[in-house]
Amino acid sequence: MGEEVSRKEDRRFITGRGNYVDDVKKPGMLHCELVRSPHAHARIEEIDGSRAMALDGVVAVLTADDLLEYDLATMPTLMDDTQDVLVNDKVKFQSQEVAAVIAEDRYAAKDGAEKVDVSYDVLEPVVDAETALEDDAPLIRDDIEGKEDNHCFDWETGDEEATDEAFENAAVTVEEEMFYQRLHPAPIETCGAVGDYDPGKDKLTVHMTSQAPHIHRTLFAQVSGIPEHKIRIVSPDVGGGFGNKVPIYPGYVVAAAASYVLERPVKWIEERSENIQSTGFARDYDMNGEIAATEDGEIRAIRVDVLANHGAYNAAAQPSKFPAGFFNIFTGSYDVETAYGSLSAAYTNTAPGGIAYRCSFRVTEAVYLVERMVKVLADELGMDPADVRRRNFIQPDQFPYESPTGWNYDSGDYETALDEALEMADYEAYRDEQQRRIDEDADKLLGIGISSFTEVVGAGPGKSCDIAGVEMFDSADIRVHPTGKATLRVGVQTQGQGHETTFAQIVAEELGIDVDDVVVEHGDTDTDPYGLGTYGSRSTPVAGAATAIAARKIRDKAKSIAANELEAAEEDVEWDRESGEFHVAGAPERSVTVTEIAAGAYMNHPGGEEPGLEAVNYYDPPEMTYPFGSYVVIVEVDRETGEVEFEKFVAVDDCGNRINPMIIEGQIHGGLAQGIGTAMMEQITFDDNGNVTGGDFMNYLLPTAMEIPEFETGHTVTPSPHHPIGAKGVGESPTVGSPPAIVNAVVDAMAHAGVSHVEMPMTPDVVWKHLEEAGLER
Ligand code: CDP
Repeated sequence: MGEEVSRKEDRRFITGRGNYVDDVKKPGMLHCELVRSPHAHARIEEIDGSRAMALDGVVAVLTADDLLEYDLATMPTLMDDTQDVLVNDKVKFQSQEVAAVIAEDRYAAKDGAEKVDVSYDVLEPVVDAETALEDDAPLIRDDIEGKEDNHCFDWETGDEEATDEAFENAAVTVEEEMFYQRLHPAPIETCGAVGDYDPGKDKLTVHMTSQAPHIHRTLFAQVSGIPEHKIRIVSPDVGGGFGNKVPIYPGYVVAAAASYVLERPVKWIEERSENIQSTGFARDYDMNGEIAATEDGEIRAIRVDVLANHGAYNAAAQPSKFPAGFFNIFTGSYDVETAYGSLSAAYTNTAPGGIAYRCSFRVTEAVYLVERMVKVLADELGMDPADVRRRNFIQPDQFPYESPTGWNYDSGDYETALDEALEMADYEAYRDEQQRRIDEDADKLLGIGISSFTEVVGAGPGKSCDIAGVEMFDSADIRVHPTGKATLRVGVQTQGQGHETTFAQIVAEELGIDVDDVVVEHGDTDTDPYGLGTYGSRSTPVAGAATAIAARKIRDKAKSIAANELEAAEEDVEWDRESGEFHVAGAPERSVTVTEIAAGAYMNHPGGEEPGLEAVNYYDPPEMTYPFGSYVVIVEVDRETGEVEFEKFVAVDDCGNRINPMIIEGQIHGGLAQGIGTAMMEQITFDDNGNVTGGDFMNYLLPTAMEIPEFETGHTVTPSPHHPIGAKGVGESPTVGSPPAIVNAVVDAMAHAGVSHVEMPMTPDVVWKHLEEAGLER
């Protein structure tokens, strides 16, 4: 623990020996290409696959009719909605899956897809949530019995009456409307699957890009009727997930179903534009935030209202009892008396989603809202935003802290993290420089943005969190072999986070064996223990805990073998964590390691003991963990062009006890880059006809090394009191925490001229318009 162990998995990645779904090649394998709708809203009149079938190499053209025969034309979403696998009646978003062509090779499949003739009766689409909820909006979900409007669900949290009263009596109130634009996780590897039904064994193997193989197997079993033990999901190396590979997509089902029917392996690999246009999007929250405060900046109440665009189906990927994800945490790092949040969600003719893009289920939107609102309040009061934060932080001695929306924060020390970040950023000097530029009417304005965010990760306690009814525990299975080497199998699924290294470090720490003597396996439902998968930074908080506990079980058993070998009574044997050895109390010179005694577990185990040295743990966390951090971003805004340049970017994170600081650093860098993409460049947009106008990498702008500044990172350590090794998650903190810091910085550069908000993505034209409106343009 705490060592910068090099990533074990990198040997295969940097030598080109990774094994991704598209690397899976099976004898006799067929290829699948999906036919997608060019329209956002249209009734299908006819599908004619005859021209496609006439092509060399095309084996089958599948439509909803074919799937209906197997009861597979629709599938449940993770939020209990029903989504078409192939459209049966009405297309509900552009790029929706209409038919599938199965062919001997990918070229034939692609040619075939172009020759499938579909006639559509085009209907009026509606792409934004506000219009969708108007009385005369076209009805999208006429497949839901009795449905007469596009309303998806309502949600609320907190105490409305007390919050309203606090606002009525407040000395100061501020309000700001802000849109968290629709984003796409855009992992480097798109989605894909190889369905491989073996009629001999009557077993269906699906190799797929999955962040959650076990729950996917359960869902496959429930939908297809194939018994669960006859299904094997293999998720090999996954080239980035970021939440995008949590839902089940039609392509997976079609590849599996086609393989089952045709009794040959069938591969489906998505193209980039298909991935962006049809798979789970993130955010798309139109938010209104209000703060009630005293004149000296004490926050008394927070009120938020959200309009959420959920696309054509409610297909968010999150614990099922939380329709608005973990948006409840919108009071952030602040000790607020009362709060109230409400949300309305709408169906629109856009791709479904609302997935947790490198975040814990909508915590990103909540953090953005509250961290922006604190800046709005500070500007209204003419106070330093750092001081407003200090005035309102939950104090270290208030933990465990129950928030006004009923969430139990485990631990935190927010002011120390903020002070550290401000010092690293040379905050006071930059404030002076900012004023100097204003006084001298300089061409480039300086802006300083802060975000002191609190995350909530580690879903979750089974009492409140489940996916499709399965409680959100996770698991570890450790086998120490006779030679003292160990295999750890986990229920989570790495997609680049380095679990093969950090989870081995946990075992090494708990058992005193060398980290190189531990191999970590995951992503195969036939061999790994059941787990809920990797998303929402839950791996370390949940499977990391399971790993530590399983290792401790092994240590307990090893102790009795140690006593046997040391010829001492078991109660006289002690474990020395420092040296990783057992010794007799008071006689440290006589010691044995787990490696030394592993053989004893198989060859010389004490009478009455079971042989072997193995343990399994299924861990249901008592609570979630609450990592936090303070980011300080300093930008220059060019008054002539609206361009924003990063002058300094400081990130201080606290994820409790740190397993591998180098991996944490990598996680922070990657997440900050994604935060910059969010704040500055990325957005999926639609035209009035429902065409996706940000649906490829020419239009959906990802940041490159050119746009990313040097990051200065720091850390504080506030262990989680309930986690076996005191660790919290970290993978998402930077994506969650950085967008408000960046927007706060750009707003701050223009705040002296009355600018209170700038919408993301803050492209030069957006910023320039604000400069112009504020009379700051050159
Ligand atoms: O669930 P996911 O793996 O995406 O996120 P995480 O649990 O936050 O972990 C991301 C990576 O950082 C993993 O390799 C963790 O083991 C590592 N980590 C760490 O070294 N120390 C921590 N306190 C938390 C995470």
